[in-house]
Amino acid sequence: MHSNRNIFLVSVVLMSWLPLITTGQNKQAALFDANWLFRRVGLQADGSVVAEPTGLQEISADETGWRKLDLPHDWAIEGPFRIDLAGETGKLPYKGIGWYRKHFTLPRTDSAKQLFLDFDGAMAYAQVWLNGHYLGTWPYGYSSFRMELTPFLQFGKENVLAVRVSTEHWDSRWYSGAGIYRHVWLVKTNPVHVAHWGTFITTPHVTRQKAVVQVQVKVDNQSGNPVLAGVHTELFTMDNHNKPGVRVATLKDSVLSIAPGKTAEAMVSAVVVNPQFWDLESPHRYLARTTITANKKLVDTYYTAFGIRTLQFTARNGFLLNGRRVQIQGTCNHHDAGALGAAINTSALRRQLTILKEMGCNALRTSHNPPAPELLELADEMGFLVWDEAFDCWKHGKKKEDYNKLYDEWHEKDLEALVHRDRNHPSVFIWSIGNEVMDQRDSAMTAHLANIVKREDPTRPVSNGYNDPDGGREVGAAVALDIMGVNYFFSRQPQWDADARYANKPTIGSETSSCISSRGEYFFDKKYANWQVSSYDNAYPGWGCSPDEQFRTNAKFAHLLGEFVWTGFDYLGEPTPYNSDETNLLNFRNDPSMKEALEQKLSALRKSKAPARSSYFGIVDLCGFPKDRYYLYQSHWRPNFPMVHILPHWNWKNRIDSIVPVHIYTSGDEVELFLNGQSLGRKKKAPQQYRLQWDSVVYKPGELVAIAYKAGKQWAREVRTTTGEAAALQLQANRSSIKGDGQDLVFITISVTDSKGRLVPTARHTINCRLQGEGEMVATDNGDATSFIPFSSSVRPAFNGLMLVVVKAHAGARGKLKLIVESPGLTTGVLEISCANTLNNNKK
Ligand code: GAL
Repeated sequence: MHSNRNIFLVSVVLMSWLPLITTGQNKQAALFDANWLFRRVGLQADGSVVAEPTGLQEISADETGWRKLDLPHDWAIEGPFRIDLAGETGKLPYKGIGWYRKHFTLPRTDSAKQLFLDFDGAMAYAQVWLNGHYLGTWPYGYSSFRMELTPFLQFGKENVLAVRVSTEHWDSRWYSGAGIYRHVWLVKTNPVHVAHWGTFITTPHVTRQKAVVQVQVKVDNQSGNPVLAGVHTELFTMDNHNKPGVRVATLKDSVLSIAPGKTAEAMVSAVVVNPQFWDLESPHRYLARTTITANKKLVDTYYTAFGIRTLQFTARNGFLLNGRRVQIQGTCNHHDAGALGAAINTSALRRQLTILKEMGCNALRTSHNPPAPELLELADEMGFLVWDEAFDCWKHGKKKEDYNKLYDEWHEKDLEALVHRDRNHPSVFIWSIGNEVMDQRDSAMTAHLANIVKREDPTRPVSNGYNDPDGGREVGAAVALDIMGVNYFFSRQPQWDADARYANKPTIGSETSSCISSRGEYFFDKKYANWQVSSYDNAYPGWGCSPDEQFRTNAKFAHLLGEFVWTGFDYLGEPTPYNSDETNLLNFRNDPSMKEALEQKLSALRKSKAPARSSYFGIVDLCGFPKDRYYLYQSHWRPNFPMVHILPHWNWKNRIDSIVPVHIYTSGDEVELFLNGQSLGRKKKAPQQYRLQWDSVVYKPGELVAIAYKAGKQWAREVRTTTGEAAALQLQANRSSIKGDGQDLVFITISVTDSKGRLVPTARHTINCRLQGEGEMVATDNGDATSFIPFSSSVRPAFNGLMLVVVKAHAGARGKLKLIVESPGLTTGVLEISCANTLNNNKK
């Protein structure tokens, strides 16, 4: 076998080799996710403790009663939700110890190979053993890491791998999940091979006519002898299947003389004529194919995806991508996928990014940790810029058992792992060394971390998200950064623009707005009720502001790079304003008077036992259903997309003849609003006005129609109708067919409708779901942050008319899956999804 860079399927007895190239990643290896055994010890979901037996890493350990499962796996998402847990946990009992074991056999013919396991991420404090021998640890649960198996492998016989992860001493401000929640890969190489994350492709000179592409290749010699390694690289366009298309350049061969046990490096460059740029709407990529020969024999083939694009960050004229000004319209997002928890799933991520793209979002901030590699692959492919972030804390933790415990020993290794893994992705445009870290005024620490990143990648700027930007700038800590990341506070920007130290330093809104709302909830005389938040998009914590206010700030400082809104999606944990987490105090740590008031509030909240378990910050709810705010962002971020959105809904039985304010978001500039055919007036947006308001509409059932105009011409139209009573359940899937590979997911929205098929926006009917065919319901949800029904339940009430069911087909499944949803008194909904057996045709 000559390559570590081909995907191969592994089973216990048989390995089949399918040459395939993964997208945008250096990792072309075999998924090692199937057939693990799992046991939870230590803290259990109900708070009890199961003593951890000794020797679980030994070959002979007793596996009676262990659960069989496939990775990725997040043990905590199973719940149950527990009211006694702090808000930031998502009320999910994630603390505990998980042991994973896997039995596998490799053929004797592999005995001359090097074998490695690549973990994309394991939460947390992972320790790995093979056949009872300790291989190593990687504590930070968001880092990707490699363990070498070779010295302890037995070929032609069974091997036992054991992994222990523990979250018992891992605190987090948001839901971290628990377990081996990302993919694991088996990588097989010859002794002479491209090193782990061993290529680095840069484009030092780029014009429309030509791009200089520089390729650095690191080659490991793990053989016992000196070797002359030949390095040969060719560049190709990437075709629609993420495979090499047309060859565009051949790089000069290098020969490396490598002593045993050493690594050597080749650096070559070539010119690509008339390069196709990677851009937001046309994310073209290229593939480099590197072949390695050892003493003239081919020993490795390694693919690296990359893009050609230019990034310019200016202090006076914002950000330019390929020479064109691009305003950063970004969202911050945590890593969970709602009801699926932290377990990575590419279809779930793709759906999230599709929803964000449709809104006009062009950039993602991986708050506040290294993302799953799949996020970057999708960002490359779909055309998003990525702010790739390392940490939420450095030497001083926000929580007791935060990254502060790891900082001294691990920060350099974790930063290197992040940069080495991600630096070939064209989507990554800014590195971030932190978020609101307690040490943000520490100039030496800031410079130290920034320098590590620059040492590993001198081609991209380094930033840090400040919640004390004035402090960070005053003491000079921010001097070490290329870009000033500002969370929420721009008030003294003009002063900083005048300060010689920062006059040329671009500023970005690394976190903005933090508006909160619950989908479909509207309160008239207040913003908060029933542990929900009104959806007029006018509620936010003390440090936040409405989206409109933020747009005005952005317009005032038009020379800045743009913003990352907190957040695109709701996430598990941090249910502000019903959060009982004391780290909320951090947001006020520079203002002691507020700290005291907040302490009182938090102590009251703790006593109240808030039943809220997920955030209200999302522009989109936990299910992926857009809130009203989605359309406010869309109206501003996609000015050329004709749209108009009315809020609230028009089912107000108990408010007949009372006032129901109507707000309109449109990408037009003028709107006329009609109630039951009667005009309520035509309103024009004033400069920097982002919503039109009719605040004294007297409610009458019927029909509200908004007609939007742009430059005097009709632009878009929307209708809100008072619906009839709930009569039926309707189903809509985000796709009509899925792969039968046990991974691919379809997301099905259930709507409670009246007899005319119109969504009943207040409906809360309990819905019962059944799936027929070779698949399963993976999770259900309804976007209600106060629901304590486990995500695995097939019975759930609709929340304001909607519910979500996530379905997968079993590996090898064929034919149709049929979802049947029922609720007493409502017409049953039925939907069929076809699935394709892809096991023998596992091509992307
Ligand atoms: C920020 C913090 C985020 C989140 C947000 C909520 O200060 O960086 O992680 O907590 O507040 O508004």
